Amino acid sequence: MLVCACSASKYFGRKLAKATGSGYLEIETRRFPDGELYVRVCGDVAGESVVLVQSMYKEPNDRLVEYLLTARTIKELGAEALIGVVPYLPYARQDARFKPGEAVSLEIVLDLLAHAGTDRLVVVDAHLHRVPDLSEISRIPVHNLTVMDRLGEYLRANLDLSEPLVLAPDEEAEQWAKVVAEILGTDYRALSKERLGDREVSVAGELELEERDAVIVDDIISTGGTTAAAARLAKEAGARKVVAACSHAILALGAEHRIFSAGVEELVASDTVPSPYSVVSAVPPVAGLLEKIAGS
Ligand code: R5P
Repeated sequence: MLVCACSASKYFGRKLAKATGSGYLEIETRRFPDGELYVRVCGDVAGESVVLVQSMYKEPNDRLVEYLLTARTIKELGAEALIGVVPYLPYARQDARFKPGEAVSLEIVLDLLAHAGTDRLVVVDAHLHRVPDLSEISRIPVHNLTVMDRLGEYLRANLDLSEPLVLAPDEEAEQWAKVVAEILGTDYRALSKERLGDREVSVAGELELEERDAVIVDDIISTGGTTAAAARLAKEAGARKVVAACSHAILALGAEHRIFSAGVEELVASDTVPSPYSVVSAVPPVAGLLEKIAGS
């Protein structure tokens, strides 16, 4: 097995190659003056099983096109199989036509990945709200791994939490709050969220947090609006300390300020999206799955 990575995930790719004992293949990428991308696969992939890593955060469109160019080239050069590892899968929130005429972006993106030659896809904590299994809407098998257990273990081992209550800022996040609460040996509560705009949300719920810490758990922190609203609610309910944990710290412009000024004292995230808060790695679960696939 050979591992290679596009520009958003070189570090992740090298760690994955090491963890699986695979060779690492360089992919050269650069941008032409007009904004187009140049891609070159620097090595022989003929007959190989190739793993291509590209997390598609912050500039999802560029990341996606780079992946498509690279994947197709790897297949044209004779790779036997191509496993795409996309630690952060973008466009998953647009998984339905909420208003007439809208693109169902998730299905289109999955289709593009398969069309470029991906034989199997590995993602981490995909935002699955209405689609329980991505394989059902994809032409290729999709494995959705999680880092929630690892985030829970990190919180338990490294934060001195006093009688924490784990909070899911909305119903969908309840599944992740449950995992973290079990690891912390405590209870959890799902709040209700109403989205008022791209950056504005309101979060509500009855909470009593005197002498307790609050741990807000979500899959994505993008603008930080959701986490900030949940943190304000926890503070109003008397929470001693508020910490936040997420798989994907996208942290769009202003998110950190929004979160920390709302009372969050600590943010813990995984390395699916590199950030100063990425203290937990998604490499071990991805490596474990690749070893299982290779051995089957
Ligand atoms: C939405 O349902 C997700 O689980 C997150 O709550 C959401 O993407 C967070 O976005 P933001 O940080 O912009 O509020």
